[in-house]
Amino acid sequence: MSLFLVMFLVVSATQASIHGEFINRLDFPDGFMFGVSTSSYQIEGAYLDDSKSINNWDVFSLSPGKIDNGDNGFIANDHYHQYLKDIEIIQSLGVDAYRFSISWARILPRGRFGEVNPMGIMFYNKILDELTLRGIKPFVTIHHHDFPQELQDRYGSWLSPLMQEDYVHYAKICFKNFGDRVKHWITINEPVYFTIMAYQNGGYPPARCSPPFGNCSAGNSDIEPIIVMHNMLLAHGKAVKLYRKIYMHLQRQQGGLIGIAEVCGMFEPLTDNDYDQEAASRGLAYSIGWALDPVMFGDYPLEMREILGNQLPNFTTAEIEFMKDSIDYIAVNHYSTTYAKDCIHSSCSLTAAQPINGFVDRVREQNGVQIGEPTGVPSLPVVPRGFGEVINYLKKRYNNKPMFVTENGYSEPETPQLLQEALQDDTRIEFHKLYLLSLAQAIRNGANVKGYFVWTLLDDFEWRNGYRTRFGLYYIDRQTLDRIPKQSAKWYQDFLKNKTRPLTVRIGDS
Ligand SMILES: *[C@@H]1O[C@H](CO)[C@@H](O)[C@H](O)[C@H]1NC(C)=O
Ligand SMILES: *[C@@H]1O[C@H](CO)[C@@H](O)[C@H](O)[C@H]1NC(C)=O
Ligand SMILES: *[C@@H]1O[C@H](CO)[C@@H](O)[C@H](O)[C@H]1NC(C)=O
Repeated sequence: MSLFLVMFLVVSATQASIHGEFINRLDFPDGFMFGVSTSSYQIEGAYLDDSKSINNWDVFSLSPGKIDNGDNGFIANDHYHQYLKDIEIIQSLGVDAYRFSISWARILPRGRFGEVNPMGIMFYNKILDELTLRGIKPFVTIHHHDFPQELQDRYGSWLSPLMQEDYVHYAKICFKNFGDRVKHWITINEPVYFTIMAYQNGGYPPARCSPPFGNCSAGNSDIEPIIVMHNMLLAHGKAVKLYRKIYMHLQRQQGGLIGIAEVCGMFEPLTDNDYDQEAASRGLAYSIGWALDPVMFGDYPLEMREILGNQLPNFTTAEIEFMKDSIDYIAVNHYSTTYAKDCIHSSCSLTAAQPINGFVDRVREQNGVQIGEPTGVPSLPVVPRGFGEVINYLKKRYNNKPMFVTENGYSEPETPQLLQEALQDDTRIEFHKLYLLSLAQAIRNGANVKGYFVWTLLDDFEWRNGYRTRFGLYYIDRQTLDRIPKQSAKWYQDFLKNKTRPLTVRIGDS
């Protein structure tokens, strides 16, 4: 029996693919932080309370047909009023840390063009104080997709360099008011993903795009994403420069760290021919490098320059200075893996075969076999091995810069119709076990990963998917807004509590 078990473990440790039940908290290094993630617009609601202004998502929600089921974030989970309950839930899970974001329109209802809203500041002060009291470390995202609509109406938000000034003004107010308690900042959540959604597909506000990517009323899908990314990156760089210079005393005093979050999906070549291998490299460079190369090395990826040439802006010498090394850690959001198919030498869909997409088609099937089990988001099948692969890619490309996995989670392919069905979420538990196993192996092979956050605490407003896509450890009854723990919440709690060392040594490891 025990010999069998040992042999079984050897196999599972070397293959790290299908034996999730063997994952244990002690597979992660000392000081490794576990947490849960949320974002302001997805949970807060209270969209007009206490002088918060209308933001881009409030406006987008009102535009018919933009969001599944006509959902909006006006009430969301009413976290604004129920935050205390939610912090109690967070504490009950036994996590080390909690990642949330600040609502820009709550703090600065009119951006730079009006006053700071003291009630907005007070709300986040209460959250930070509660977390501190309970020994939970806050990871704070400054900008997670939502901003005051006035900045859109005045000058077109991220399409204009003026947005950089607004962002830096806002970030400065966050540092000043919250910096004494926040040791882990994230400047912007998923700039590449946001940019593609908002300016290439038109699936996020301000819903700009052009054919063949979509039929928006205005926009240019080839050019605008490039301009928007440049503004977001410079906004990041300028805010970090300010944080490090003006708030140096804070940073030194408390060891504050600042990073940027990007969704880091893995790309595997569809076939082993050279073209597809190059396509996989381009896929990674376009989706990850577009954000991370500039903040690590001060310039855009070569893979992008080769194709986009002069369409890609240059950073000035002064900008390169502050862009370079402008992160202390990489905040990695990871969900899935895709096959990459080359579109330079073979034919692809019209949208894939474009310079702005690096001539890479994202394919989920190889020889008739799906890359992974489906989830509630068709582009995000379950591919545990890809997690370790992308962590290794980041380790190599960015010289093993410290990483925190700030999002990883699962949504059911079919929205559960019955409560009992929603609560019995074994597939979510299996997802986390397998992904954690893949991560643990990458860490044992030297990847400098320091934390892992589940997306997400509560079922929430999943942007254009509305409330039907459920990623939460807690089920939200949309009528009563009751928070009901799913099995996965119980599993996470047990996982975090279990400090019993696994019986078997990891024989199969190198
Ligand atoms: C845009 O509209 C045209 C004409 O109505 C239609 O043929 C095309 O499929 C639409 N494209 C997208 C991406 O929706
Ligand atoms: C960027 O710099 C390169 C090399 O100095 C130059 O050839 C190119 O024209 C510049 N591109 C833009 C968009 O200014
Ligand atoms: C705790 O972890 C050990 C080692 O992995 C495992 O054998 C045990 O079943 C776990 N206990 C619980 C309560 O999950």
